[in-house]
Amino acid sequence: MATIYIDNEARQANPKQNLLHACLSLGYDLPYFCWHPALGSVGACRQCAVRQFRDEQDTAGKLVMACMTPAADGTRISIADPEAVGFRAAVIQGLMLNHPHDCPVCDEGGECHLQDMTVMTGHRSRAYSFGKRTFRNQYLGPLVNHEMNRCIQCQRCVRFYREYAGGSDLNAFHLRDSIYFGRHEDGVLESEFSGNLVEVCPTGVFTDATLKQHYARKWDLQMAPSICVHCGLGCNTSAGERYGTLRRIVNRYNHEVNGYFLCDRGRFGYEFVESNQRIRYPLLNGKAATKVEALECFGTILREGNVIGIGSPRASLESNFALRTLVGDDRFFAGISDHELQLLSTMLRILREGPARSPSLDEVEHSDAVFVLGEDLTNVAPIMALRLRQSVRQAPMQIAAKLHIPEWLDQSVREAVQDAKGPLCIASPYATKLDDIATATYRAAPDDLARLGFAVAHAIDSSAPEVTGLSPELEKMAAEIASALLGGQHPLVVSGASCRSQSVIEAAAQVAWALCKAGRTAALSFTTPECNSFGLALMEQRPLSEAFRAIEREPAGTLIVLENDLFHRGPASTVASLLRGVRHVVVLDHLENATTEAAELVVPAGTFAESDGTLVNNEGRAQRFFQVLVPDTDVQESWRWLREGSLAAGFKAEAQWQSFDDLTTAMAAKMTVFAVIPQVAPSRKAVGKIAREPNRYSGRTAMLANISVHEPKPPDDPDSALAFSMESGPESAPPSLIPFFWAPGWNSVQAVNKFQSEVGGPLRGGDPGIRLIEPPSAQSWQYYSTVPEAFRPQLDGWLLVPIFHIFGSEELSRHAQGISQLVPRPYLALHPVEASLLGVKAGEQINVSVEGSQFELEVMLRADLPRGVAGLAAGLPPVEGITLPAIGRLAAAKTAPSARGAA
Ligand code: SF4
Ligand code: SF4
Ligand code: FES
Repeated sequence: MATIYIDNEARQANPKQNLLHACLSLGYDLPYFCWHPALGSVGACRQCAVRQFRDEQDTAGKLVMACMTPAADGTRISIADPEAVGFRAAVIQGLMLNHPHDCPVCDEGGECHLQDMTVMTGHRSRAYSFGKRTFRNQYLGPLVNHEMNRCIQCQRCVRFYREYAGGSDLNAFHLRDSIYFGRHEDGVLESEFSGNLVEVCPTGVFTDATLKQHYARKWDLQMAPSICVHCGLGCNTSAGERYGTLRRIVNRYNHEVNGYFLCDRGRFGYEFVESNQRIRYPLLNGKAATKVEALECFGTILREGNVIGIGSPRASLESNFALRTLVGDDRFFAGISDHELQLLSTMLRILREGPARSPSLDEVEHSDAVFVLGEDLTNVAPIMALRLRQSVRQAPMQIAAKLHIPEWLDQSVREAVQDAKGPLCIASPYATKLDDIATATYRAAPDDLARLGFAVAHAIDSSAPEVTGLSPELEKMAAEIASALLGGQHPLVVSGASCRSQSVIEAAAQVAWALCKAGRTAALSFTTPECNSFGLALMEQRPLSEAFRAIEREPAGTLIVLENDLFHRGPASTVASLLRGVRHVVVLDHLENATTEAAELVVPAGTFAESDGTLVNNEGRAQRFFQVLVPDTDVQESWRWLREGSLAAGFKAEAQWQSFDDLTTAMAAKMTVFAVIPQVAPSRKAVGKIAREPNRYSGRTAMLANISVHEPKPPDDPDSALAFSMESGPESAPPSLIPFFWAPGWNSVQAVNKFQSEVGGPLRGGDPGIRLIEPPSAQSWQYYSTVPEAFRPQLDGWLLVPIFHIFGSEELSRHAQGISQLVPRPYLALHPVEASLLGVKAGEQINVSVEGSQFELEVMLRADLPRGVAGLAAGLPPVEGITLPAIGRLAAAKTAPSARGAA
């Protein structure tokens, strides 16, 4: 540590940081705009001026920008120096000359970094009475709003969008004394991370366009810590509610997981909670029913016995456990296909029995040699893709280090490094958006991807099985990838379930294991399809087909389906006939779907916003989300419906769960793997009450004054330490229970600075979440010995693989109003040469025949697809329910599906 003197006070600082970073970490209030802990320093705004003294004798000193000056040992500065104070006030005065001062109508108002810094510098009145510079705003799509007049030219937006996130359609346009931050023309922002502009921009230029549709003042939002449910990464979020409806999602900093950023699916997908398809009251045979009628029916059905339960990878551990307990361990089944459960089980076995550890996303970012096998990360696990965009800077950072350029001096580092990139090799069935930063790419069918992986493992460790029949080019590529991985200090292999290939997953493990055997501490990260895929696979090893078999054995029984549309899990005809084959179907879910349509009884299940629960992410980290709103409908947590149903049936066992804590305790006692779940977040008994409402909240009296001026009693929350009130602020909350970041004088998202052990580092008290998966201490693993045969295009069919889309491939977020406008039309993607063989052109219809289903789709041409491989938009109808990859037959529409040779 370095000793630095701030206004004559000796303080310990990290010498690798700049003075602004160090001062903020030490708790000083020093204003800034252009610096961001994730983006580094460029010295653009001149807001962080301090006076620096040469030594103790120097009384004159000089003004320096704190963000551009290292926190070197012995540095002496003054923040309170009158000239520094005056300089900072003058900078704000200059920035505010053209600012519209429209805080009362600005969506950023009350949560604005510019407001905070203006107050911090003491600027109160405008000393400029001439006309202001104005700009035309742009339409940037349904997610982000643009109001350019509020810009203070800090450059953060373009630095984030272009340099950090790799986008190209947002830029700074200069003309004389004007700078315009926007697109070259109106249009939807192309980056999957565009929503972060809302938090990165220190003013109200970029704001949340979805919040605008149902705006509430930021200080009037009731908030709760939450976990994103739209992919398997488990990014931490803060959900905001007003008047009983969910208004927005913002990032909740977790150093280990998502850091400062979310993807657009995670930020804007929340609108599904208020979708028109939301189920808010029970339905009995498709007709509205009261809660009493629903529970009476549920109780009667349960008393008949013969009940089978189907769980869900998008439901919490607790709701799955409640159903498992209600129906009995041997009558509960994971609600996913055999193939998917097999892939998840393989990944879990690899991570629990092999030597390679699953890394946190922070560790992913700090990897310096990466091999991605079979994944389109930007569309499947977006924040991992964003982290990998930073990882390619790790190795070239040594160029800057040799020139003695500190890491935080962003522009200088970029100048020194130029286009140098650390090794990132991507092998995938089609081109991915990360390919632009890859040092090597390979596109092939899943079996060929696996062969490359096995060849890389053999090149690292010759005792790993050899791959025969590889082309010389592929042998060379395997050797190069092996050498790049061996050259890294922190090599990483990424794979997952996207290719739906067991061989690809095994090949990825083989590479990581070979690295471990070669003495490297290799990390192995798998993506998982849904928010609790690993949680469900840890709980239950029997797939949907076994449930179907059990139903066939007991056609007179009852089926309870938990938060799961079975038509997404298997062929429609199979699912439909099975649902017809049981006497009663009871479904607990949020949105109307084909399974709820087929149910006798549907009960409205709480989403993440109306429930508490635990999810296990792809790292194996168990994380808790908390209820943010109390519905005034019959919506409640699935586990509560199950408990009340069993009480209505006259069963006693489950009635002991009076609260969520009782349920997690019962789960921990019953299943060793979940023994630590009660500790994922402390209980109310342990920490007292923590307010969901900020201390500037307008209050319930004001909210309901049109009805009554008597303040109603706030709802009770028997399930968590969070209270629906203003009881005690977030400062005293343990990290897993922080509903929002706020500190006196810091109303914007930058208030998170006050909650970190050092700015940009872990939260004080440790980052939320407990890992459930670790490599064993004693190693007894063995290499996989089966290498798949090379893929050969078939004469009578195409290998159909899923093509993922950040908007559309996930079940819930595509019901969000904003996102629904960005979902592509279903299509079949073909290589242009193969399309011409079939006699179809882009935009024309083609007949697809696969796995007993036949449908017509629009043709899209993609030259990046390997020969003999065609792509289908994952998750979109009519592909949902079809297990891919699968061999399909194709024919131009209006002709019968024909053999490939004949085509
Ligand atoms: S738009 Fe926002 S982030 Fe971009 S330069 Fe202007 S104030 Fe800074
Ligand atoms: S990366 Fe996944 S978990 Fe994170 S915000 Fe996006 S959809 Fe949510
Ligand atoms: S924050 Fe230091 S110059 Fe902008």
